[in-house]
Amino acid sequence: METIQIIDSKKHVGETVKIGAWVANKRSSGKIAFLQLRDGTAYFQGVVVKNEVPEEVFQLAKNLHQETSIILTGEIREDSRSKFGYEIGIKTIEVVSESRDYPITPKEHGTDFLMDHRHLWLRSSKQHAIMQIRNEIIRATYEFFNHHHFVKIDPPILTGSAPEGTTDLFETNYFDQKAYLSQSGQLYMEAAAMAFGKVFSFGPTFRAEKSKTRRHLIEFWMIEPEMAFTHQEESLKVQEQYVAFLVQNVLDHCGYALDVLGRDKEVLKKYTKLPFPRISYDEAIALLKKNGFDDIEWGDDFGSPHETFIANSFEQPVFILNYPKAIKPFYMKPHPTREEVVICADMIAPEGYGEIIGGSERATDYDFLLEQIQNHGLDEKEYSWYLDLRKYGSVPHSGFGLGLERTVTWIAGIDHVREAIPFPRLLNRIYP
Ligand code: 4AD
Ligand code: MG
Repeated sequence: METIQIIDSKKHVGETVKIGAWVANKRSSGKIAFLQLRDGTAYFQGVVVKNEVPEEVFQLAKNLHQETSIILTGEIREDSRSKFGYEIGIKTIEVVSESRDYPITPKEHGTDFLMDHRHLWLRSSKQHAIMQIRNEIIRATYEFFNHHHFVKIDPPILTGSAPEGTTDLFETNYFDQKAYLSQSGQLYMEAAAMAFGKVFSFGPTFRAEKSKTRRHLIEFWMIEPEMAFTHQEESLKVQEQYVAFLVQNVLDHCGYALDVLGRDKEVLKKYTKLPFPRISYDEAIALLKKNGFDDIEWGDDFGSPHETFIANSFEQPVFILNYPKAIKPFYMKPHPTREEVVICADMIAPEGYGEIIGGSERATDYDFLLEQIQNHGLDEKEYSWYLDLRKYGSVPHSGFGLGLERTVTWIAGIDHVREAIPFPRLLNRIYP
């Protein structure tokens, strides 16, 4: 008898198979017991019919507790009434390990309770669907960048630099020196682009931001492509192609997960159409002012109500181009004719999900960068290697960073970024 995974049921219709699974839920009548089974690959129903199995098998099935682990055998059948489409007619059940008083029951639980039980909450079907979408976005990311000849480069996590400013750094001891957890691998990716042309990183980044919003994590995963001989215009094309590719692959490979989450696929399809709209920072300010946002002036950064209003003015993700230099990091290339503006863009997701990409063309002028490093209060010594890149065959280059969890939150259509990562680190939470 073959041991299979639930996800492969369709290849085994009519066969008797063995499966290792957990009991997610159960209901029974006098004559029949329905077990909701999960094995990590999928969820489906196991049916135990009293007069088709020995009495002890039926009694065992009726008395299984939620999350007991079992090995079962039975015949795979089509089941047109379930979304999954298949079920198993159970013949034997062997208990591997009991589960008593599982804390997450099918009733409603509060968010704090669920977050305290995140190690168990991950087993639920909604969380499973979200992690499948996360996994698909990770898979499609590697496919996209490999296909376009990008080399995956892993920047360090312990660093001496602060590319995104000094206010939200996690400081740690590096023997007798100070070090920080990486906020962004970008500066190292610039060095890598000069060595390998087109590169991307994919790793954890850390921001000690005292933000408690549905968009902020303290530890999040970022994809940071960096491209030599590339101006901002070409980078924007890569960004929109990449994001449309992610949405298309989730549509192609995660239909079931999207159904579990109740995500409207027709809405997602709009996000695969290129190009994405663009608006300049100046136009965005004018648009907001015209629509009653009296709280914002040229030079201010956007808050989430502003981003949401701008996003709602378009059908697709929208690029906001060329922000004021004063509110952006030190490394961005200045605009050729307006010194108060830099060549950059943020991509704002639709439906109020906020910024998912930040990117820019990078400054190449040695003296400009040195002055910027000084003006931003950064330690010159720590950036000497970075300045070297402008001394030895510097070229125009551009790059961007996409926040994985914000992208998952948006594509999955869920409310809060904390459910888009297996074990979220939040302002007031490092457990479990
Ligand atoms: O806009 P950010 O800060 O840009 C950078 O770090 C650049 N160095 C990237 C680059 O050009 N290589 O961050 C990039 C993205 C944001 O658009 C957002 O999606 C995500 O990272 N992000 C966060 N996601 C979750 N929680 C946080 N606290 C985040 N901060 C940024
Ligand atoms: Mg940003």
